[in-house]
Amino acid sequence: MSYIRMAVFVSGRGSNMEALIKSEELREVAEVKLVVSDKSECKAFEIARKYKIKYVSVFDGDKSGFISYEKLLEIMAEAGINLVILAGFLKMIPKKLIQEYPWKIINIHPALLPLFGGKGMYGMNVHSAVYASGMKISGATVHYVNEKYDDGLIILQRAVNISDVISPEQIAERVLRLEHELLPEVVSLIVRDKIKIVDNRVMIS
Ligand code: GRF
Repeated sequence: MSYIRMAVFVSGRGSNMEALIKSEELREVAEVKLVVSDKSECKAFEIARKYKIKYVSVFDGDKSGFISYEKLLEIMAEAGINLVILAGFLKMIPKKLIQEYPWKIINIHPALLPLFGGKGMYGMNVHSAVYASGMKISGATVHYVNEKYDDGLIILQRAVNISDVISPEQIAERVLRLEHELLPEVVSLIVRDKIKIVDNRVMIS
């Protein structure tokens, strides 16, 4: 079992990040060391301050108050980051970061991929599309990150019955509850070395 030091990338609310911070299962084996956002301020930063976790704003270029991805990579190396979690991060991750952390970047998506993913499919856009589709289940997916949106190998999914919902917001609520369980569970699988890639599928042992 290896100790996990996570960098969590966020753009807004940060409830999945908080689920990781508060996870009993992860308490002794993993820690959120760094919070990264593409915004100068967001709700997730409030949470970071509350738990005294370092946070930075990143921009692909030069912008006052923001650090570059090069600088971010340095900070991540100094902090000994060995797992990157995208939890509501709305920007594409630069190739360089993906190359620096092979099989060490995961994303949580609020639907059952490969359905309802890809560019523009975030936040309520996802749940509105699921609602409009008439599907009777939705769910959450945690997957490895590659250079396309919502495209890497699926690690774990969980579904929820939405046959009785009367709004996309209701779907969002049910899925978010699942996400808060699913993400810490995946990190726990990673910590315990339970994940293997076989025949281009993720196998959990
Ligand atoms: C979650 O629904 C996650 O699946 C998606 O963005 C949302 C982030 O919510 N990628 P929060 O910031 O974790 O509350």
